[in-house]
This record gives sequence, structure tokens and C-alpha cells, in this order.
Amino acid sequence: IPTPPPAGPLLAWYDRHRRTLPWRAGPATGAMPGEPDPYRIWLSEVMLQQTTVAAVGPRYARFLARFPDVQALAEAPWEDVAAEWAGLGYYARARNLHAAAKAVAGRGGFPDTEAGLRELPGIGAYTAAAIAAIAFGRPTVPVDGNVERVVARLLAIREPLPGARRLIAPIAARFMEQAEPRARPGDFVQALFDLGATLCTPRRPACALCPWRGDCEAQRQGIQESLPAKTPK
Ligand code: ADE
Repeated sequence: IPTPPPAGPLLAWYDRHRRTLPWRAGPATGAMPGEPDPYRIWLSEVMLQQTTVAAVGPRYARFLARFPDVQALAEAPWEDVAAEWAGLGYYARARNLHAAAKAVAGRGGFPDTEAGLRELPGIGAYTAAAIAAIAFGRPTVPVDGNVERVVARLLAIREPLPGARRLIAPIAARFMEQAEPRARPGDFVQALFDLGATLCTPRRPACALCPWRGDCEAQRQGIQESLPAKTPK
């Protein structure tokens, strides 16, 4: 398995340029002081599964005002949850959210491992890894489209998606062999999301600003915009 570059430059970049988002701790928001709240992280990741960061922002705050903790959500009638979800789409998410809240309230809290989280309705491999890293500091790397793109470019993986996933996932996991991301897994994975969303974009990536510009094989070869390749339909 190829070795990914040192994580240090990405974390340093994140410390300076992290996006201010309502589910992130940080001086700029004041929204989430202290320890991350698994309920809040879980809610953000479920909303972000099929809805953009921009669209989630206001709805996230509203949802939390209505259902401030997992008990409140578990005890709410389904009609109230559905009404609060209106417009976000993919109603199965709201159904699963409500079912998962009841399961979590029933067991007295969120599972704190990836495997435990995966047993909750509506939580797949990606979401379980994101919550495990961000809420519980587990050394795991969720692989979404952003992370696939970043890793495919860093290592100049030319195999097209979706097949390339079997190469990309183990490389992404290897980041957590390094001490710096292991010390702050939640920051590291959110730094990968931010890099993919703001600099390492599908079109016209801003390589001149990238903390990994000296480490990126695709940029060295000048093929960054063509990666990751996709199998033609
Ligand atoms: N997309 C999915 N999870 C995210 C997060 N925690 N921050 C930013 N974008 C995301």
C-alpha cells in the first residue's frame, strides 16, 4: 500500500483556514465549546449525507433548537420530526434519525466505536467513521468523494472510479499511522473535507495555495484536473 504524505502541513493549514461551521468547535462560532457532543456531530453528518454545507447550516440550528438532545428527539412524535425535516429531502434519513435516537436513548448514549455506530439505522461506513473520528477521537478516515479526489491526486492514482476505491481506502487509512493525525483525528478528517471543498476542487484546483503542493504526484505530473478518472458510462 503506497504511503500518503505527512499530515502536518494539512493540519497547520486547517489551523489557519478552517471553515467556520456550526458543528465545529472553535472561537469563531461559540456553537460547540469544549468536548464535541456526539448528538450534534451525528446530526450534522446525517444532514450532510445528501445536503450541501450551505443548505444544512440554517436547518441544523433550527433542528437543534427544536430537539436539543437525543432524548428530546427520541421522545418526539414522528410527525414533529418529519415536519422539522421538511424540505431537506430523502425522508428515509429522517425516519432513520428518529429510530436511531430511540435506540441511543434506550441504551443510554451513543456507541463510541465505528462498529457500534454502524449498527444504528442510517449510519453506513462513511458516517460511522466520520462520527467516530470527530466525536470520539478514533483514528479512522471516512472516505467520501472529497477524500477520494484528494488521495487520488496525491498519489496520482489513474485507475478510474469506482474501481479505484479499493486502492484509495487503504491509503487514506494509512494517514492514521502518523502521530499528528492520531493526536487529533476529528481535525484531520475535517481538514481533508475542507481541502477537497475549497482548494482540491474537481475543476481548477487551487494548487498554488495547497499545503500539500510539494507532496502531490498529480500536480507534479500536471494531471491533477483529470483525476480521479471515471469509468465512462
Ligand atoms: N461533509 C461531511 N461532513 C462534514 C464536516 N464535518 N465538515 C464539513 N463538511 C462535511
